[in-house]
Parts: sequence; C-alpha cells; structure tokens
Amino acid sequence: MTTTVDTSAETQTAEKTPKKIGVPKEIYEGECRVAATPETAQKLQKLGFQVLIEAGAGEKANCPDSEYEKADCQIISDTETLWKTADIILKVRQPLENKTLGKHETDLLSAGQTLISFIYPAQNKDLLEKLAARKATVLAMDAIPRISRAQKMDALSSMANIAGYRAIIEAANNFGRFFTGQITAAGKVPPAKILIIGAGVAGLAAIGAGRSLGAIVRAFDTRPVVKEQVESMGADFLELEFEEDGTGEGGYAKVMSKEFIEAEMSLFAEQAKDVDIIVTTALIPGKKAPTLITTEMVESMKEGSVIVDLAAEQGGNCEVTRPNEVYRYKGVTIVGLTDLPSRMANQSSQLYGTNLWHLLNDMGGSDGYKIDWEDEVVRGALVAQNGEVTWEPPKPAPVPSIHSTSTPGLAVQQAAQAKAASGFKNLGSLIMIIVGVIALTGIGVAAPQNFISHFTVFVLACFVGWQVIWNVTPALHTPLMSVTNAISGIIIVGGMLQLTNGAPQITQILGAVAIFVGTINIAGGFLVTQRMLKMFQK
Ligand code: NAI
Repeated sequence: MTTTVDTSAETQTAEKTPKKIGVPKEIYEGECRVAATPETAQKLQKLGFQVLIEAGAGEKANCPDSEYEKADCQIISDTETLWKTADIILKVRQPLENKTLGKHETDLLSAGQTLISFIYPAQNKDLLEKLAARKATVLAMDAIPRISRAQKMDALSSMANIAGYRAIIEAANNFGRFFTGQITAAGKVPPAKILIIGAGVAGLAAIGAGRSLGAIVRAFDTRPVVKEQVESMGADFLELEFEEDGTGEGGYAKVMSKEFIEAEMSLFAEQAKDVDIIVTTALIPGKKAPTLITTEMVESMKEGSVIVDLAAEQGGNCEVTRPNEVYRYKGVTIVGLTDLPSRMANQSSQLYGTNLWHLLNDMGGSDGYKIDWEDEVVRGALVAQNGEVTWEPPKPAPVPSIHSTSTPGLAVQQAAQAKAASGFKNLGSLIMIIVGVIALTGIGVAAPQNFISHFTVFVLACFVGWQVIWNVTPALHTPLMSVTNAISGIIIVGGMLQLTNGAPQITQILGAVAIFVGTINIAGGFLVTQRMLKMFQK
C-alpha cells in the first residue's frame, strides 16, 4: 500500500496531534542501513509518534515495505513528500546531494523541522552552516556524549561494536586457515595469532569474535585502564615499559608523545613477524589516525597474513591501506573497508534504530517532545537550532580555583572567603562536639546502668559499622548489600526476642519496627543481588 499524504495543513500540528517521524531511503552509495526497522518503528509508535517510511527504505537491510505496513507505518513513495510531511527526520548518513532529485537533502529540510542523523560536525563545518541556514533543529548522533546515562543512545559505540566483529569475519574470509588450533589425522594445525591495536569498543568486539573462533589474541592500547577488560575477554595485553598514560578527556584517547609512538611501533615491528592477522582500530576523535604499521612491517609479515584497518576512513593506521579497497600487498591482504556496519545492515539498523528510540524517549516522546538545553545528552548532540550553529557544546564549567584566577584582588578576596568559610565550619564542628559531650555526660549521670552498657555497645557498633562501610569501594556496594542481609537477620532475631519476652510496650513497638525494616532490607538485598547476578548470566 502506497499512500499519498496531504501536506497542506498537517505540519501545523495541533498540540496533541502525534508528531510525524519520517525515515527516508539512504542515498549514500552502497549504504544498506535504515534509520528504523519495523520493530523500532513500532516502539516509536508506542512513544506516540506516527511513522512514515519512504518506499524501499529498508529493502537492503532485509526490512521490506510489507513488514513496515504490518507494523502500522505509512509508506510514502515520493521522497520530497516524505521530507515535507515529517516533523522529525531520522537518517543514518549525513545529508547529501540527491542526484535523482537534483537537490541537496539539506534543501529538503524546512524551518522548525528536526533532523537526527550522523553529522560529524568537526569535519563538516560547511554542512553545519547549510543546515543552520535552513533554520532546522539538527541533532548529531555521533556527538552524543559518552556518559553512563547516554550509553543506550551511543550510536558510535553500537556501530563500532559491529565493525569490530565484522573485521574478524572479513579477516577470516581472507585468511587461508582455521583460527582454532586442531590436531587431526591429516595433520596438526596451529591456532591463528591475532594482534588488535586499540582496545576501544571496536577493538574489544574484535577480541571477543577472534577468541570465540579459537585464535590466540593479543591487544595493545595506550590507555592502561583497558588492560583488565582485554584480559577478562581472554586476550593477552601487551605492555610497554614506558611511563605515559593515553587516557584523555571523556574516556577517549589523547595524542601520544613521539617517543611513545616510536616505542609502540618497535613492539608492533616484533609482533608483525609473529602474528597472522592485525586489526587496527587506533584513533583519537577528531584527529587523523596515527600511522602505526609501516610498509616495512607489512613486508615482514608471513605470506597469507591479513591486516584489517578499521581507521581506513580517517587516513588508516597502516601505511599501505587503501580506503574502501581489499587488495594484496606482497602476499598480505589489506582490508580497508569503511562500511563494515552497513555490511551487517539488518543488525546495525536494529541497533541504530534502538539508539534513536532511546534518544526520542529521553526527549519526551511525541507529547512531551522538546529540545531541552538543560539535558546534557540533548545539548551535546544539538549542532544547529533557530538558524544558529550550536556546536560545540560548552564544556562543563571548571570549578573556580584560587590559583587559576588572573585578578590578584579577586584571588585574595576568594582566599579570604575560603578561610572564613573554613573558620565557620570549624566553629560549627566545635559546637557540635560540645553539645555531644554535654548530652553524653547527661545520659551517663541520669540513665540506669543497664541502659549505659547497651548504649555503649550501640555507639561503638555505629562507629565501627560506619568506618567499615565507608572504606568499601563503590564497586563493591552491591555485594555488600548481600552481607547486610546477615546483619538484618540478627536485627530481626533481636526484634522477635523483644516481642516475646514481656518487655515494656514501647520496646515491643520498637522491636516490631526493627523486624519490619530488617525484612525490607533482606527482601531488597535479595532482589538487587538477583538482578546483579542476572547481568552475568548468558
Ligand atoms: P574508540 O575511540 O573507542 O577506540 C579507539 C581506541 O584506540 C582507544 O581505545 C584508544 O585508546 C586507542 N588508541 C588511540 N591511539 C592509539 C595508539 N597510538 N596506539 C594504540 N591504541 C591507540 O573508537 P571505537 O569506537 O572503538 O572505534 C575504533 C575505530 O573503528 C575508529 O577508527 C572508528 O572510526 C572505526 N570504525 C570503523 C568502521 C568501519 O566500517 N571501518 C565502523 C565503525 C568504526
């Protein structure tokens, strides 16, 4: 069913009219992904949106129009009608020249519309200006900040995950041997050895895929924090005897010193002679990829070896990589493909569509839809609005520091204020201590002997318990909850004793409260522990 939509009044939506999402067919040559699958389109409808799909948009991702129709989407055959009708356009690739229409996709956007797609604002300044001139609101999926809350919207990670997996599949396809070692009647087969350079999202996915095929995997990264992740996936982490940490802003890598690069390159030169496959993923965002595998290293590799260069689009980590090409260089196959996620279009569309769904959910769904500048995820991704380029987002305000103040007068003033504040704090603590001492003395003089001994145990238990829990690292707080179950059990037994031994009424009431609170703690502890264990179950 192909529907023609009346575009006249519909874009002027009344307050509660569902917002229309338009999903055009991707026009980048060879692009097979689509921004919504029938499954994610259905989820968008549950957020209150109406979903319009350009005819044939999902064909190359194995999502035929008939499936979208079953998912209650409207199929629009005319590209321009789709762009005109939708309030929000969801795309994979940045806007490009549509040769069939003879128009740039940017010119299909109108004022007040929203476009959400990959944009790469740092590399596409002209595109940003063009988009801003259309007075449209534009959100770049590649600019979603890499913070915990935004993980579910992080399209760069979901695509890199697929690319890392596919890199190993491409390597296997071009490698003339098994990955796993075998001893058969026909002879012994050694396991393949793989070196992964850069253990970010793509690198870790490649380690996982390589290990599951039975290869010996080694990995190197400039950020020492990834060592544990690499080892937990069954690979060896190669280390340099060089004191330099590559951890940069926001968990990304930073540019390394010339000496470090030289040291790691001599490590790779050694490894190149030994391994069968090298997968390179080393990149610093917004920079040209560092050259880490030289022509000489490629020449030193065994005949039949394979290099998959995931950084091909950013200039390549290998000196002989040709972007978008797979070719043999002196017996070594060099894979420079830049469309690995698109080669698994169904999977990548599903993940990308889910990332978009999470973002639109975060933005309030259809009814509560708004561009909230206070939401750091939305602000991070927002690159154009109301005719202005809004990229890059401001960095979080630095905490004012006396040392960083350039005005000496102000520095002195701030120092004085800080000193006064700390003086007040000290005075406050002193008063608290005095009040505490007076209260304790009062209790000591007036309270019965029996109470004093229980009270002493209580105060000591609070102090020791506080000190013990305070010193546990936050990562262990969940297992700690299981331990508190045991403590709650003791509390419940104590409460039950108070209920049954004919204690005064007030004690019985407190006993009942203790049983109630202890039970909540135990039940909650089990629930949380169960949820945590589920995260580790396959
Ligand atoms: P990422 O930024 O999470 O990871 C890059 C890793 O390389 C980081 O762990 C970083 O510490 C490391 N690194 C940087 N400089 C290094 C050096 N000199 N030596 C060793 N390690 C170094 O990036 P992500 O998301 O894992 O993506 C990796 C690469 O894959 C990127 O280049 C990305 O553009 C590319 N990619 C390629 C695709 C394709 O179809 N070919 C598709 C998706 C991603």
